[in-house]
Amino acid sequence: MSATPIAAITGLGTAVPERVVTNADYEKYLDTSDQWIVERTGIRERRIAGPHESLAALCYTASTKAMAEAGVGPLDLDTIVLGTVSADRRLPATACDLQALLGARNAAAFDIAAACPGWIYSLAVAEGFIAAGRARKVLTLGAEKLSSITDMKDRGTAVLFGDGAGAAIVEPATGDGRGILSIVLGADGNLADLLYIPGGGSADPVSLKVVEERSHFIRMAGREVFKAAVLAMARASDEALAKAGVTIDEVDLMVPHQANLRIIEATAKHAGMPMSKVMVNIDRFGNTSAASIPLAIGQAVEEGRIKRGSVLLLVTFGAGFTWGSVVLRW
Ligand code: UT7
Repeated sequence: MSATPIAAITGLGTAVPERVVTNADYEKYLDTSDQWIVERTGIRERRIAGPHESLAALCYTASTKAMAEAGVGPLDLDTIVLGTVSADRRLPATACDLQALLGARNAAAFDIAAACPGWIYSLAVAEGFIAAGRARKVLTLGAEKLSSITDMKDRGTAVLFGDGAGAAIVEPATGDGRGILSIVLGADGNLADLLYIPGGGSADPVSLKVVEERSHFIRMAGREVFKAAVLAMARASDEALAKAGVTIDEVDLMVPHQANLRIIEATAKHAGMPMSKVMVNIDRFGNTSAASIPLAIGQAVEEGRIKRGSVLLLVTFGAGFTWGSVVLRW
């Protein structure tokens, strides 16, 4: 293990809406079945926010838990970076709403639109800010209210997505070997139209036409995205391990993006990782985009599968296309 960490996660918190939506709930109004959803995706249920549950509120709950664990108060924070594609409003950034809710008045705050890798991108920003001496206590988040941008009449996407938030405090590494050992980020904008929201942006602002065409919701060419995800996640895993100087045998737990159990299995197989060392919770939460990896880490910590000093490989892929991977010592 050759890399020396610059930054480390010192506290993690998660939050999900209480409302559970099962596959049977979709069977009532969509041409789908529990069997299809479980076999093709691994999803059994997901958490869906109510109309009055905001993304900022989910972020607030996750953040206060992360801050308590790190022993960091709101005035200590100097930066808030929120990876999300489902901000409460187009303006301002939800990170600013969160900053106000927390009373973190010394913190700069902004959102990052990197889709599923949003939290990994936020970690990279935090690490970079710390390396540059620009920040010392960064609140990073991956959080989504995907139910607000999902077409509940489209069986190809409706059954996949869920809501949730994960927050992590990132601080300078202390020299005990724990922290971020490598980060790999990538993107391929040529494939943007395989997973996107066609309308409602500045190219085609909200109008009656946009709403009637339902083009303000996510559209996805599932099979093409699937293939690209398998390839990109395999490559990103290899690169992060090589950059960290870590072999797959030294990894205690792989925590992949939870988009599809079959993608997770293919990624693990490529890396040579037995499924017993791969975190899977897609059955409970569906695909929560940027929240997916922090939610999975949170559960793994609770279950005792991640301990102080555990080596983790995180890997993710999403709209853009974007991808990212991290090796870290917890
Ligand atoms: O978050 C990051 C990015 N997202 C992903 O990584 C997701 C990647 N894609 C996938 O996970 C999978 O492609 C899906 C789960 C979206 C779809 O699974 P698939 O095995 O690739 O199915 P498909 O799209 O090739 O569709 C197979 C059939 C089609 O019917 P026909 O044309 O064969 O008659 C679909 O219409 O399954 C049909 N189908 C469904 N059937 C029942 C699609 N969605 C459903 C559904 N219930 N919910």
